Amino acid sequence: MLSSEHFYDIRNRYLTSATPIQSPEHLKGRDRSLKSLVDALHTPGRHAFIYGYRGVGKSSLAHTTALQIQSSSGSPIFVSCDPNSTFESLIRDIARRSRKPIDERLHKPGKLNVGVNVASIGGANIGYESKSPASDPPEVKSVNEALDYLLLAASPHKKGIVIVVDEFDRLQYDSCHSKFATLVKQISDQAAPIKFIFCGISGSVEALFREHESVFRSIHSELVERLALNARLEIIDDASGALQIGIPDGFKYRIAQISDGFPSFVHLLADKMFSAAFEANKDRVDSLIYKTGLQVALRSVEFSLKKRYEDALHKNTKKYEHVIWSVASDHNLDSNVETIWKNYISIMETIGENSLARQNVNTKLNQLTTESYGRLLVKPRRSNYSFDEKMMRGYARLRAEDSGCSLGKENADLVRM
Ligand SMILES: Nc1ncnc2c1ncn2[C@@H]1O[C@H](COP(=O)(O)OP(=O)(O)OP(=O)(O)O)[C@@H](O)[C@H]1O
Ligand SMILES: [Mg+2]
Repeated sequence: MLSSEHFYDIRNRYLTSATPIQSPEHLKGRDRSLKSLVDALHTPGRHAFIYGYRGVGKSSLAHTTALQIQSSSGSPIFVSCDPNSTFESLIRDIARRSRKPIDERLHKPGKLNVGVNVASIGGANIGYESKSPASDPPEVKSVNEALDYLLLAASPHKKGIVIVVDEFDRLQYDSCHSKFATLVKQISDQAAPIKFIFCGISGSVEALFREHESVFRSIHSELVERLALNARLEIIDDASGALQIGIPDGFKYRIAQISDGFPSFVHLLADKMFSAAFEANKDRVDSLIYKTGLQVALRSVEFSLKKRYEDALHKNTKKYEHVIWSVASDHNLDSNVETIWKNYISIMETIGENSLARQNVNTKLNQLTTESYGRLLVKPRRSNYSFDEKMMRGYARLRAEDSGCSLGKENADLVRM
């Protein structure tokens, strides 16, 4: 048995439900994506856009890629957008994060050899960081000036710099997208040693290109799909090996299935199971540990998912929950009403409760798409329903599992409890 300190240290390295992965060793199921991103980013003038559903693993792929391609002389720069971010504020964030090398070089004008006209950067403000560490980089007034800043930041690194702009979909102002598109185009045209990796949900890729179609040629776009079953199992196997706590196949597959391919659920559930085993002084996850781990995991799920789910239930009725489970049970993200009905009947049989009439289930499905039910579901096509927030499927599966109803038996033949 590991010492407590050792256990938590290993657990935090292997099970990271709240932080992006940084290394290929821990990044499961993304070999092909990683390879094509590294390849694209090594191509002169190419940048990348990583997109996919929330929680699917975009930042992890971006971080690992950035660390793979950044030259050994520096670290990638990571910035994240929020609804108040602007193009200018993000460039200033990037400048701030690369500030040390800029500071040093601005102090030693004789050694400054950046291949750009430094006097043009911020004009009179050029010494902005020289005296006070608290002072901010000057305003960025144009895309050209932004490029000058980035060239300055890149200059100490022989092979240039890699900048990850995460949560690009949270940018609200259209002008930001077009400025980034212009910047990327200029960097590509000038073969400047700067690589951008943007991350966001699908719509934000189009927003970046809308006003600047020719930027398409400069961007490699990489769709991140839900994590394949094998990759989910590998996360659990690796942690199990490193923590020296066994886990029967049945529980392993259940965790993988509950997660529905959203890796943070795999990390969260495995973390809680192994921690429960460790605290109970056991070297193997058993039924009791599994149940305890599930309950702890349920309590730790992020608040926004929980709240949205609870709001849709309208507090007083379980009836909506069974309908929600019927949608979450299906492997497909969009489910046809016919399939939902079949899932519903099977769920009601499993839990031994009376079914509602089919019309009643249809009404509830429709209600769940309305504002007063928090738009938990959307209707992508006539007769089809899908969760608005795809990651919600994992939470619904977790709730069902805790109530003794296993959803997502798409690989039922693999499951032997
Ligand atoms: N390929 C992977 N292998 C193992 N774990 C992963 C993988 N991808 C992501 N994870 C884990 O899943 C969690 C969520 O991943 P990540 O933050 O990268 O997703 P995201 O798509 O950026 O989410 P969001 O949309 O909320 O920003 C992380 O905590 C990370 O540890
Ligand atoms: Mg992210």
